[in-house]
Amino acid sequence: MKRLALITIIATLGLSACSSESPEPVEQIIVRTPGETVPAVETSDGDDLVTTGRKAFAACVACHAVEQGEPSGAGPNLFGIVGRQAGTLADFAYSDAMTGADFTWNAEQLEAFLANPAEKVPGTTMVTGAVTDPERRSAIAAYLVSLTE
Ligand code: HEC
Repeated sequence: MKRLALITIIATLGLSACSSESPEPVEQIIVRTPGETVPAVETSDGDDLVTTGRKAFAACVACHAVEQGEPSGAGPNLFGIVGRQAGTLADFAYSDAMTGADFTWNAEQLEAFLANPAEKVPGTTMVTGAVTDPERRSAIAAYLVSLTE
């Protein structure tokens, strides 16, 4: 699951590289085994993806805790979110929409949700937090993928 998520991120980056004005688009497909760290892809900030994502996550910290065991705030704690069924963190009062969402979070699902929460999960009570920039979405997803034990 984690490996697939990482491949998705790389594939997405490859696609966005092709659509930019880069003179020589490079397609990167890196297959990694579970337990390895996220590859050091450089973002336009000059940071690796996870670092960029951690910084971009500043837009989320008002509502989302990320430390293991930390109580949820206005939104659910996102530690270990990848591989978790949507709307299933114990002790968080999700909307019926999120509880009824029938998918498990991976990088691709996260990016789709961040692009447009209400489209991905119609009726969600997360009414803010959409991220318009695809690179930032990929980076935040990579950061969330990294939030494991
Ligand atoms: C104003 C508060 C707020 C902000 C800001 C916010 N969220 Fe949320 N988020 C929520 C709430 C509330 C929910 C639960 C939604 C529901 O039950 O429909 C949620 C749910 C989620 C979920 C689903 C969690 C699960 O357990 O299924 C993810 C993933 C998520 N948010 C990611 C983010 C990210 C990444 C950002 C920043 C880009 C962000 N959120 C910004 C309030 C917020």
